[in-house]
Amino acid sequence: MVFFDFLRLCQIIQLIQWLRTSKKGDDLLSEFITEDKRTHYCGNIRAQHAGEDVVLMGWVHRRRDLGGLIFIDLRDREGIVQIVFDPEKKSQAHALAHDIRSEFVLAIKGRVNLRPADMINPSLKTGEVEVITDELEILNESDTPPFVLDGETEVSENLLLKYRYLDLRRRGIQQNIILRSRVAAETRSYLQKEGFIEIETPFLTKSTPEGARDYLVPSRVSPGAFYALPQSPQLFKQLLMVSGFDKYYQIVKCFRDEDLRADRQPEFTQIDMEMSFISESDIINTIEGMMAHIFKACLDRELQVPFPRLTYREAIDRYGRDNPDTRFSLELEDLTDIAGGSGFRVFSEVVKNGGMVKALLLADGKTLSRKDLDALGGFVGGYGAKGLAWVRVNEDGWTGSIAKFFDQEEIKRINEKMGAGPGSLILFVADTEDVVNNALGALRIHLAEKLGLIDADVFAFTWITEFPMFEYSKTEDRYMATHHPFTSPVAQDIPLLETDPGKVRARAYDLVLNGSEIGGGSIRIHKSDVQSMAFKALGLSEDEARAKFGFLLDALKYGTPPHGGIAFGLDRMLMIMAGAESIRDVIAFPKTLKATCLLTGAPSEVSAEQLAELSLKTI
Ligand code: AMO
Ligand code: AMP
Repeated sequence: MVFFDFLRLCQIIQLIQWLRTSKKGDDLLSEFITEDKRTHYCGNIRAQHAGEDVVLMGWVHRRRDLGGLIFIDLRDREGIVQIVFDPEKKSQAHALAHDIRSEFVLAIKGRVNLRPADMINPSLKTGEVEVITDELEILNESDTPPFVLDGETEVSENLLLKYRYLDLRRRGIQQNIILRSRVAAETRSYLQKEGFIEIETPFLTKSTPEGARDYLVPSRVSPGAFYALPQSPQLFKQLLMVSGFDKYYQIVKCFRDEDLRADRQPEFTQIDMEMSFISESDIINTIEGMMAHIFKACLDRELQVPFPRLTYREAIDRYGRDNPDTRFSLELEDLTDIAGGSGFRVFSEVVKNGGMVKALLLADGKTLSRKDLDALGGFVGGYGAKGLAWVRVNEDGWTGSIAKFFDQEEIKRINEKMGAGPGSLILFVADTEDVVNNALGALRIHLAEKLGLIDADVFAFTWITEFPMFEYSKTEDRYMATHHPFTSPVAQDIPLLETDPGKVRARAYDLVLNGSEIGGGSIRIHKSDVQSMAFKALGLSEDEARAKFGFLLDALKYGTPPHGGIAFGLDRMLMIMAGAESIRDVIAFPKTLKATCLLTGAPSEVSAEQLAELSLKTI
C-alpha cells in the first residue's frame, strides 16, 4: 500500500514536470490545481488571518520584481492582496513567478503574514498583510490587455466598451454592478414584504405610447406585421389590476428609440409598480418606505421621510424646470412686474409682448469676472436666450451697463425682492416664459457646479405633483399627454377634457433626486367613458382609439378597480447612488450614444435569407 502511494507520487511529480514544460498540457494542469479549494477572496484577507494557510485565486493586477523577491498584487472581485515569492524559501514557485504577466490567472497556496510596520499600506483593506507563497499555479495566461486596468489611466470610452469584459474587471465599475444587484434584491425584499406580487409581462407586444419611437420586431408568421418592444409595461400592469392582483411589481427592461444622453439608454430597467384601491398618498408612502429601506440597506444612509413636495407650478416658478436640484437654493425670482415698467427697452418690450423677466442672485458676485459674465451670456444663448443682463449691487446703487435704465425706486424694489445687498450680482433673462425658465434653470445648475455650491454627499428627494394633463405641441398642432394617456384627471377637471384640455390637472407625480427624474407615475383612469374622453382630447378619433386601445377600453368595462402606480428608472437611481457620471457606468453591457454595442457589433446586417423569411426588404 505504502509502495503504491510512493509510485503514484513519483508519477504525479513526473506529470507536473512534464506539464510545466509542455504548452499543450495547460488544460490538464488546471485539473490538478483545483483539487485545492479556494479558501478566501483575495480582498478579504485581514490581520486576523495571520498564520493561516490560504488558497487564493485571481488575476495579476501588478507584478514587481525586486531582483530577489517578487511581489504580485492578486485581484478578485473583493479586492487586492499582496503575494510574496521568496527565492530562498520556495525556489520553484519563485522561478515560475518570473513568467507571470498582468492579467494572468493564478492559484496560489501560502501563509498569511503580518507585514512589518513600515510596510503597511493604509490605502488597501488588506494593507496590513501579505501572503508568502508555497505553491503557485498559472491557471491561464493573458495577452497584454489593450489598456491598463488600474482605473486611473485615461482610456477612450470606445476602447473600454469594445473590451467591456476587461473594463468590468476594474474595481469602480465592478462595485457599481454589485451595488445594482443589491438594490434589486432589496427592492424585491421590501416589496414582497409589503404584499406585492412580481409578474412578468411580454416583450413581444403592441406598443404603448410613452412618447418615444418603438423598436419593432417583424413577425415571420404574419408577414408585414410587427411586434413592438414595450416602452414600459403600462397597459399590462393596469390589466393585472383589472384581474385582481391588487399589488404588482416587476424589475423589467423597457425599450425606447429616442435621442440618447448621459442618463438615457435605448434599453433600460424600471422598477415598475401598480396598486388597486389606493390614492396618491398610499403610493407616496409606499415609495418613501421603499427608498428609505434601499438606501439604508445598500448605502447605510438614513433618509428623511416624508420627502418635500412641490407642485409642478412651484417647481417651474422657483427652479425653471420640473426636475429641480434642491441640494442648493439659488432660486429664480420673477421680476416681470418691476422690470416691465423700467426704462430698459429690452425688458419692457419683452413684457409688452407677453414675455417675462426673471433673475438669479449671487450673494457674493465678486467671484465672477467680466469675462466669466460674457461666457455665461454664451451659455444661456444655448438655451435660446438673447442675452444675459447683469448688475453689481453696492452701497449706493447698481453698476453695470444696464444700471442707468433703472430709477432708485425700481432698484430698491428689485434689491428687496432678490434679497440683494452690497457685493451681490443679479443676472437677468427676458424672453418668453419657456426660454426664461429653460435658460435660468440651466444657468442655476451651471453656476452651482462652477461655484461649488453642491454638496455631493447629499440625497435630495422631491415629489413633483399636480402636473398639467396635456401640453400643447406646436409641431404636431395638438395636445400631447404630459405623462401618458391613461393618467386620471383631477375629478373636478373631467368636464374640461371636452372644453379646455390645456387647463386639466393630472393626478400624476414624479420623484426627483438631485435634479434627475428617477420615477414617475399616476392614478389611472378606471372608467371606459373617461378614457374615451382623454383619447378624444388627444385628437384620436373613435376608430383610431378602438384600433389602438380597444382591448383597454373593453377591459375597463369589466369591473376595473380604482388603481395607480409608478415606475422608477433603476439605472438613473443607481447612477446617483453610485456617484457615476454616465448611465453606462451602472449597466454591465451598455450601448453607445448611437445605440450601438461596441462589444458585439450590434446592430448588424442580416442575411438575405433572414430578410426573405420575414418578408422584408431593405431600401
Ligand atoms: P416614465 O416614462 O416617466 O413612466 O418612465 C419612468 C422612469 O424611467 C426612467 N427612464 C429612463 N431611464 C433610462 N433611459 C431612458 N431612455 C429612460 N426613459 C425613462 C426615468 C423615468 O422617470 N409607465 C410609466 C410609469 C407609470 O405611469 O407608472 C412610465 O414608463 O427615470
Ligand atoms: P444691449 O442693450 O443690447 O447692449 O444689451 C445690454 C445687456 O442686456 C447685454 O448684457 C445683453 O446681453 C443683455 N440682453 C440683451 N437681450 C437680453 C434679454 N432678452 N434678456 C436678458 N438680457 C438681455
